[in-house]
Amino acid sequence: MTDGVLEGAATPLGNVAPEGWSPSDTDDEWWRRAVIYQIYVRSFADGNGDGVGDLAGVRKRLPYLADLGVGAIWFTPWYVSPLADGGYDVADYRAIDPSFGSLDEAELLISEARNLGIRTIVDIVPNHVSDQHPWFQAALAAGPGSPERARFWFHPGRGEDGNEIPNGWVSNFSGPAWTRTRNPDGSPGEWYLHLFSAQQPDLNWSHPDVRAEHEAILAFWFDRGVAGVRIDSAALLVKDPALPEVPANPRPGEHPNTDRDELHEIYRRWRAVADSYSGTRILVGEIWLPDIERFAKYLRPDELHTAFNFDFLARPWDAASLRASIDTTLAAHAPVGAPATWVLSNHDVTRPVTRYGREDSSFAFATKRAGTPTDVELGRKRARAAALLCAALPGSLYIYQGEELGLDEVQDLPAHQLQDPMYLRSGGADPGRDGCRVPLPWAGTSSPFGFSPAGATGEPWLRQPGHWSELTVEAQQLDPHSMLSLYRTMLRIRRGDPDLGDGNLRWLPSSDDVLAFERGEGFVCVTNFSPAPIELPVGCPPLLASAELTAGLLPSDATVWLHSEPYATQDRTLQFPRQGGENEDGMTARRQFPVGGWQAQPTSPTEPDSQTSKVSEE
Ligand code: NOJ
Repeated sequence: MTDGVLEGAATPLGNVAPEGWSPSDTDDEWWRRAVIYQIYVRSFADGNGDGVGDLAGVRKRLPYLADLGVGAIWFTPWYVSPLADGGYDVADYRAIDPSFGSLDEAELLISEARNLGIRTIVDIVPNHVSDQHPWFQAALAAGPGSPERARFWFHPGRGEDGNEIPNGWVSNFSGPAWTRTRNPDGSPGEWYLHLFSAQQPDLNWSHPDVRAEHEAILAFWFDRGVAGVRIDSAALLVKDPALPEVPANPRPGEHPNTDRDELHEIYRRWRAVADSYSGTRILVGEIWLPDIERFAKYLRPDELHTAFNFDFLARPWDAASLRASIDTTLAAHAPVGAPATWVLSNHDVTRPVTRYGREDSSFAFATKRAGTPTDVELGRKRARAAALLCAALPGSLYIYQGEELGLDEVQDLPAHQLQDPMYLRSGGADPGRDGCRVPLPWAGTSSPFGFSPAGATGEPWLRQPGHWSELTVEAQQLDPHSMLSLYRTMLRIRRGDPDLGDGNLRWLPSSDDVLAFERGEGFVCVTNFSPAPIELPVGCPPLLASAELTAGLLPSDATVWLHSEPYATQDRTLQFPRQGGENEDGMTARRQFPVGGWQAQPTSPTEPDSQTSKVSEE
């Protein structure tokens, strides 16, 4: 492996959970510190050799996930779907898409995973259904004014012939949010609303059928033993029935199709359904909102348990920016008593290894463009550092499949394979999300890299790049310096250390381009964003580092976990020299961390850290 190398290997040096660890069934608070692994089923592992991932493939790889050390798996939608939007266009929630397997297999998988100490979370997509869903088909057949149409947002067009869209709302996938229907006689008919693709008609959440059906779907999956649901587009369900135009700067709660106050009552009812089951069944919201206080309202004790922290995900690789995000996140979650979540990637965003190697390393759908140059080696270094940073922060952690392998975004997929509606509807201006959804490399030196079994009849549904031969699980698992080894060790330490997961952090004095904080009484995390190596404190043995601690210095773009108390066992391999070292330019590193002691300071989320120490550059 060419990415960072650890002095003494990426082995944990303390606080390790005993072998055979498994979560307790009676642990009602499991979700507050959980490590949740996201499985994009089509691309995880192919059991039947057709080139498409499936449940048989996942079942076979469950031991891998147990070994990795995750506590739960979240499946992107696995239900019957035409896959116009990768399964986020559901046609039947009570059956598994035949390309993935069967309901019996899903039930087996849930219990097999549970036996390995892994809980299952499923994805519910309440904002819309597939245009092939029986409700939508019935609505099309029944015609204007019918009760069947009342479950959706059908509307006559504007203008004399009704051939103008009902309003100017724009789809999240580009273009108008309305598509015109045809009447049974072939004449142009009403329009219907879709905040995503035309194959995903929006449901009308003021209709009692829509509410009752989703509560029944929750019960259907809770009855099958799932430990939670991830709620897709959770802030979009309710619309202003007058369908007004979106104002230039809508005041909080006044956007006609996002974050409307009526949503909270819906989620209170969902919470009551979840709470009627034994064990804690969790509700996780996919909520992209710039207003963090509005965001936190969804996490009040009788609503959702947690929501994805996209603010952190979208930030550039920059100490001040990430610290600001951490502070605002923790400050917003505290009053509602919900744990934060830390997410570096998912099936919608650019892979961190690629993003962090770019000049602008922030993420935004609006600015995503094909061909943006990147330095993948730099990106990988930062992705390793980011992984340790995230896993040390208070709350739960999400890992998107392949992140633990350090996979890069595939940016040269053949045009005929691209199928993401974000790409198709934007006419190619947006490169789409296929590049982060390429089937995983498991073993071997050429495609399908063990994704499909020997004798497979189909090629992987998206082409895997040849250089992934170095990134297979097989290539990484015995390499102590690999990304996979880093993740395994990181999760093992996290699992065994009661200071990690839920709780608080205390910032430690550091220079502006270093993030350093303490958890509990003895755990310290330090990330160096500066261009030069920094010294580490004396007497704080490292537990794990994302890059080699040359002469005891923490290199640029690296994170180290330290123990801040003397250890009982002293037979570790990492050393702590007190002297400075040389950076890449041959200059002696003089940045120091921490300066003036090792005193923990209470976190102050809203004010700048008064204890920040300035580094001296001699
Ligand atoms: C969010 C999902 O993560 C994304 O993949 C999907 O396209 C949209 N919601 C629409 O369902």
